[in-house]
Amino acid sequence: MANRRRKKNNRNRIILNCTKYLFIITLIIFVVVLIITSIFKPEDKQDEPQSSDTKITSQENTGSSAENGTDLPSGTGIAPDASDSPSPAEPAPDIDNAWAMFLVNSVNPLPDNYDSLIETEVVFKNGDREFSVDARIAPYINKMVADAKDDGIDLAIASAYRSMEYQQFNFDRSVQQRINDRGMTYDEAYADTLKEVALPGVSEHNAGLAVDILSGEYYSFDDDGFKNTKAYAWLSEHAAEYGFILRYPESKEDITGIIYEPWHYRFVGIYYANKVNESGLCLEEYFIEQGWAGADGVATEMTVSQSRTPAEIVVNESDGEAQVNIIV
Ligand code: DAL
Ligand code: ZN
Repeated sequence: MANRRRKKNNRNRIILNCTKYLFIITLIIFVVVLIITSIFKPEDKQDEPQSSDTKITSQENTGSSAENGTDLPSGTGIAPDASDSPSPAEPAPDIDNAWAMFLVNSVNPLPDNYDSLIETEVVFKNGDREFSVDARIAPYINKMVADAKDDGIDLAIASAYRSMEYQQFNFDRSVQQRINDRGMTYDEAYADTLKEVALPGVSEHNAGLAVDILSGEYYSFDDDGFKNTKAYAWLSEHAAEYGFILRYPESKEDITGIIYEPWHYRFVGIYYANKVNESGLCLEEYFIEQGWAGADGVATEMTVSQSRTPAEIVVNESDGEAQVNIIV
């Protein structure tokens, strides 16, 4: 009898001990899990996509201009809104207006209807004539003209955005002038014009990203006399600060296919304008050097059609009016 009670007591003690150990083990596991969770939670968050990615995209979407890290002109209204700026904790993107860095030339035509899809803005008036550019670059050109004026230089925009129709008109007029004034045959006049006036669809003017700039000192496209002006010297020193490059430099005619045009400036954004200038290359060479274009000059990267569509037509549901949204 006493033996059976002892056995029962022993069993009860074993059960009690087991329960105690089980409780302690469960408690330890709980504490360990709690510690591990609190250690790894913040790291998981860091692996999430950074909000800076979103910021960069949204800045491009709104067409807001230059970002930190570039040589931005101050007080221009061309710096991004404070609300758009990356917070100090986020990495600052150093490439502004990457959307504008694409080739337009005889082997890199603009997509169909590009000219009709961009939003343009008047940036210069001369008598009855108004000159427009892609609205996204208007603040840059306005600031450049204003700053030049402060330095005593009167820049005169003599050509800017051109519709396809106007480009064709320009081309035909140049051919005819050569036939009339220089006695060229049609074929000679056509080939000669190609070196000075691009055909519709392969002109940067159709993209609203090019401006021809002259000044009162020398207001003529007849020859390259503009290169001897103070305005040209000012542009050579400062145009890149506003995102512009001299697009058809002297001694690059064989590569660009276009004569030296001391007046033709192309917007590529401040970052790339400085890079191209530092390289000493023309835009065609720069694209090949970067591996963005093949030896045939055809761009395979940084092309206008790679997420660089100028705009999309959105039909406003309420009134049926078509409106253009910039979605670069
Ligand atoms: N003069 C330049 C090449 C143009 O017509 O676009
Ligand atoms: Zn031009």
